[in-house]
Formats: sequence, structure tokens, C-alpha cells
Amino acid sequence: MSIDEAARRAGWLRHEIETHNRAYYELDAPTTTDAAYDALFRELQALEAENPVLAAPDSPTRRVGGRPLAQFETVVHAVPMLSVQTETDTGASGAEDFDTRVRRELELSETAPPIEYTAELKFDGLAVSLRYEHGLFVRGATRGDGLNGEDVTQNLRTVHDIPLRLQGAAPPVLEVRGEAYIRRDDLARYNEKARACGEKPLVNPRNGAAGSIRQLDPAIAGSRPLKFFAYGVGVIEGWRLPATHRELLDALEAFGFPVCEHRIVAQGWRSLADFHDRMGGRRAQIPFDFDGVVYKVNSLALQNRLGFRSREPRWAVAHKYPAEEARTVVTAIEVQVGRTGALTPVAKLKPVFVGGVTVTNATLHNEDEARRKDVRVGDTVIVRRAGDVIPEVVGVVLEERPLARMRFRGREAFLATREIVRASGMRKVPGPYSGRMPRHPAFELPGTCPECGSRVVREKGGAIARCAGGLVCPAQLKGALLHFASRRAMDIEGLGDRLVEQLIAGGHVETPADLYALTAPALASMERMGDKSAANLVAAIEESKETSLARLIFALGIRNVGESTAKDLARHFGKLAALWEADAVALEKVPDVGAIVAESILDFFAEAHNREVIERLIAAGVHWKESEGQADAPPGPFSGKVFVLTGTLPNVKRDDARALIENAGGKVSGSVSKKTDYVVAGEEAGSKLDKAKELGIDILDEAGLLQRLQGA
Ligand code: IVH
Repeated sequence: MSIDEAARRAGWLRHEIETHNRAYYELDAPTTTDAAYDALFRELQALEAENPVLAAPDSPTRRVGGRPLAQFETVVHAVPMLSVQTETDTGASGAEDFDTRVRRELELSETAPPIEYTAELKFDGLAVSLRYEHGLFVRGATRGDGLNGEDVTQNLRTVHDIPLRLQGAAPPVLEVRGEAYIRRDDLARYNEKARACGEKPLVNPRNGAAGSIRQLDPAIAGSRPLKFFAYGVGVIEGWRLPATHRELLDALEAFGFPVCEHRIVAQGWRSLADFHDRMGGRRAQIPFDFDGVVYKVNSLALQNRLGFRSREPRWAVAHKYPAEEARTVVTAIEVQVGRTGALTPVAKLKPVFVGGVTVTNATLHNEDEARRKDVRVGDTVIVRRAGDVIPEVVGVVLEERPLARMRFRGREAFLATREIVRASGMRKVPGPYSGRMPRHPAFELPGTCPECGSRVVREKGGAIARCAGGLVCPAQLKGALLHFASRRAMDIEGLGDRLVEQLIAGGHVETPADLYALTAPALASMERMGDKSAANLVAAIEESKETSLARLIFALGIRNVGESTAKDLARHFGKLAALWEADAVALEKVPDVGAIVAESILDFFAEAHNREVIERLIAAGVHWKESEGQADAPPGPFSGKVFVLTGTLPNVKRDDARALIENAGGKVSGSVSKKTDYVVAGEEAGSKLDKAKELGIDILDEAGLLQRLQGA
């Protein structure tokens, strides 16, 4: 076959395959048999393999992924993937409160006309970002921490909803953001097949979607019934954004992206609340899961003006639905010991299906909570599950509490009954209680740790009881090791739950530093560990030695120091020694570090054992790049000055103005007070300007600000 003939044949095959794909995936009406389809597909694959010049980047053959990856590359999101603030009030006032905040932020008067919003569904899947260059899909990434995601291009190529080439005139760069998800009916069908083949079914649509996108082997992702909805954009080059979010979604639809049909444009909050209600009533009929609706300010210009607060836009909110609840029976109450030694009472439940999964445990949080709710063995309880969070016991159905005949008579019986009344919170003891009392006693935490027998201590004034055993306690050691190895900490892949338990039981590890002394033969002797996984783990441990200061700080598991605080600390101090030696005053200079966090850090470094672990980590070869650390605010013409921005400036966007001020050493605050040095006022400045005048604060316009910035 000449190259011309091959090209023509390949073109025909692609067209044919795509037509069948559309019929199968979009219309749910197959137009060919599997065998005939496979024959076409294989012929195209063979042609492309023989003639690499024919291998078009948007060929349907590109949807079957390449080889499994060893790990995902990191993708930096130039435009961060933000999260949306959640409105906790699930009633109508959720919409009203959002509207009130937006109007206040825009300094609108009560008589100003209603704001135009959009409302759409809050899909329950995994957020992804899709990058198109000159119309071709070139990269897909997960959200990760919002700034750094994982490159999951191979897996996303297998999602038939995601166009490999944009329709119409495509801009040089367009990043589209949206949700990868699985429909409930597709999940059920998939699970049926999986069970028949002896494979593990997917727990629920959300975990199914997230788990599938994060598979290293694209063939697995390709076997899952993933779909996609677009709801926003990231980096854009060479394309004029439309004026509104609604038009933006329409434009994405025109480019070939699926955009969910359940969306509205509304004037003011009342229609938003209506939409929330209406869609809430239709959750069972809509074939995919959504856990709320998202409201957004429709005008992109207004969105720009509203800007962001930390990682959340002020122009959007997620209005959730109430969590799902179910009734079941408590079969036991166990006490678990966490990574920080905290003792948590956990109710073991008769399995119950709630919020899409079967629940067998529910947290009682702590002793006070367990007492307050007075949950006892044998009780019928209401359990609630909301999204990702651990199921919890909402309350006890007291009428169903199992009772035993009392052995008391006379005054004793009276006292016992009074005790029941007190314990149950009932004003009057109903019939069945007469002469009877609860069969099981009220819950009490043990005085010693159930894992290691160490003392249990209560924090001053705190509700939390902790095991004093530290890393001597196997439960704390296990938690510490799993945290140390976790993806966002030292990122040691292959160090799972079961293995850590064995390593501890066998006395192989007593601190995280011991991980670096593990050998392949020792690991291979553990249950369910082959030579290959042992060698892989040793390699992963070796690789983890090259890390960053932020990761190391996070990995140490200092109480109250999460990932973002660890990053702030690393940036601020630059060197481990500087953090190690910092006193409370120095620590509290770091953004978001207050007295409590500072104390946790001081406590941590005061403990000789912790210092020794760090020294041993360094001796084992753990290393990172140190830097000079950053002063709190760079010195500049605005050092120490506090600014408030209000209204719209003619040329400079609010976020840019803020950045300019901060780069010059100034601070930007949200409200005017005596501490304010300057108010920068633009068009339609409202109450903040009035207040500034009242307090006699210097008022600048854009020109005045820019002038001062130049050091004039
Ligand atoms: S907009 C700047 N719209 O919710 C706003 N997010 O907390 C960016 N989500 O994980 C997000 N449905 O994946 C937006 N219609 C929708 C959404 C939606 C679901 C998810 C998103 C992210 C989370 C944000």
C-alpha cells in the first residue's frame, strides 16, 4: 500500500470508528458488533504503527493509553485550581447569606438592583484540568493541592467525553477545568461485571472516579466508565473570554465539552435557593451523584473585582445538601489510638447503607462527646455520613435502649429511675422503664492505653485524652510512620498499613529514622512481600532522601503543623537549624502561626527523642536545599504601612494592586480602622471610604498609589 493509500484508509477508519464511538458512548445505541469494531480498531493501530507519520494526535487509537507509569509527573497549575467555600447552612438562607456577602463586598446599597448569578450542580467526582494547545489535548492533571497536581494525561485520554481535538477555531492555549465522574448506573453495570470476573467492585462513584484517574496503568482507567463535565477555565492565551460565566460554559460546549444541562442564570438569591430545592428533590432521578449546587457571580468582570480570599473565590459558594442519615445498632464501643496518641471512642455498628456506602464504624470523637450523647452498647443510633468525612453518631434513639429488670425495690428503685432520667435526659420515664434500667453502663474511657498500657493523660482544659507512650505505643508509631511516608510528606510508595504493622511487631522500626536502615531481604521476609516489592520499596525509601524542607517538617508530624504551615515555616526560616532554634516570638512571626502552633513546635524540639530522630535522618542521608529564608515583608517604600482597597481602580486590578503594595513591603487589610495608614479608593467606593474620611485617614487614588510606589 502506498503512503497515500494508507493515509486515505486511515482517514476512513478513523471516521468509521468515531461514528461508532459516538453511537456507543453518547447515544447509547451501538451501531456495530464488538468484533467488527475491534477489527477496525486494530487495522488502524497497525497502519499507524507502520506509518508513524499517520499517527494523528487526535486519533481514536490514542484513547487506549500507553504503558503503565512508574509514577506521575508533577504539573504546576499556573492558574491555581481553587476550592469553593462551602455554605454550611443547608436551608434557603445559605443562598441569602452568600448574596449578602457578595453585596457587602461590592459595597452595594440595599436599593441597588439584584446581582446576576448562575447556579449549577456540584458534581461528586475528581477535579481535573485539561490543557489544549492549538486545539489538541496535550495534558491532563489532577488538582492535587491546587498548585501542584499530577500528570494523568494517559488516563484522561481514555475518557470518551473529553475531546482530543477542539471543535471550531481553537486558541493557542486553553485549559479547561471540570469534574471527572462516574454515573451510578454505569457503576452498577461495571461492578456486576467486575464481580463476575472475581475483581474488586468500586465502592461508590466518587471513589471510583478518583481511584480510576489515579491509576498508573492507563488500561485500568480505560476500563472504567468515566465521564466528564466542564465548569471553568484555567490558563488562556489568545482567546477573549466572554463577559459572563454562562457564556463561558456555552463556549466550552461549542468547543466540544460536555456541560451539564442543569444550570440556570438567576437574578438575586431567591431563584438560587429555588434551584437548590428543586435539584435536591431530583437527586434520585439524576443519574450521577451531586452533593450540592454551586452559585457563581455571572459577570466575569464582577468576579474579577471580588477576587479571592486565601484559596477561595469570593464570587462562588457551594451550597450543600444535608448529610444522609440512617438508623442502626451499636454492637460495641472500641477505643482507637491515633497518630498523636489521641484516644477516640469508636462505635462498632451493625452494617448499614448510608450516603452511598456501607458503614460499620462511626466516631464518637472523644470521651466528652460520647458521654454527652450517652451512646451505649446495644443502643439504636442515628448515623450520618457527609461526603468524605468519617461517619458519626448523631444521637441515640432512647426509646429503643435495651433494658434489664431492676433488682432494686422501694427507695433504691426510685433512685435508679432518677438516674435513668438524668442519664437519658428524659423529663419523665416512659412506661417500659418502670422497674427496669439500661442493660449496659455508660461509656468510660480506660485509664491506660488499650494498645500499650501507658498512662492516659488529659490535656489541660481539653476534651482530648492521650496515651503518654509516644513512639513506644505501637498505634502512635504506626500512625507516625504512615504519616511520615505519605505522599505529601516523604512520599515513600509501597509502605502500607499491613507492612508497617509487621515491621513494628517484628521490632524492625522504632522511629521513622529506622526506615532508612531496612534491607531488601528483611522486607522480603514479611508476609505478602515478594523480592520485587521489597526491592521497589528500598528504592522508594532511598529516593525519599532527596526532599524539601517543607516536606520534612510536615513529615515529622509535629502537632498542629499541617502541610500548609510546614510550607510557611520552611519558606520563612529557610534552614532547619533556624526553625529548631526559633523561640515563640520568632515562630509567631510566620503567617498563620499563633501561640498554640508555636507551643507545639517548641514542645516538639524540646523533646530530646525528636531531636535524635532528626539527627539520625540526616545521618542516614536525608537532605534538602536550604535557603536564606524570607523576611516577613520585603523592605520597601511601604514597609510597615497598612492599606485598604475599596472600589474599582481605573487600570489596576484589585489583586494586582494588592501584589504591588505587598511587594513594596506594605500590608493590605480588609477593613478600615485606626491602624490603617492609607485607603486606596476607586470608582464606586462605598462605606470604607466614608469611614476613612471619618477617621481622617489619607486617601489615595490610583495615580497617588502608583506615584508613592515609585518611591516618590
Ligand atoms: S467551580 C474557583 N463548579 O468542587 C471555583 N467546582 O471546592 C472552582 N466542583 O474539587 C470550582 N462541581 O471539583 C466548580 N459546578 C462546579 C463544581 C465544582 C464540583 C468541585 C471541584 C472542586 C470542589 C471545589
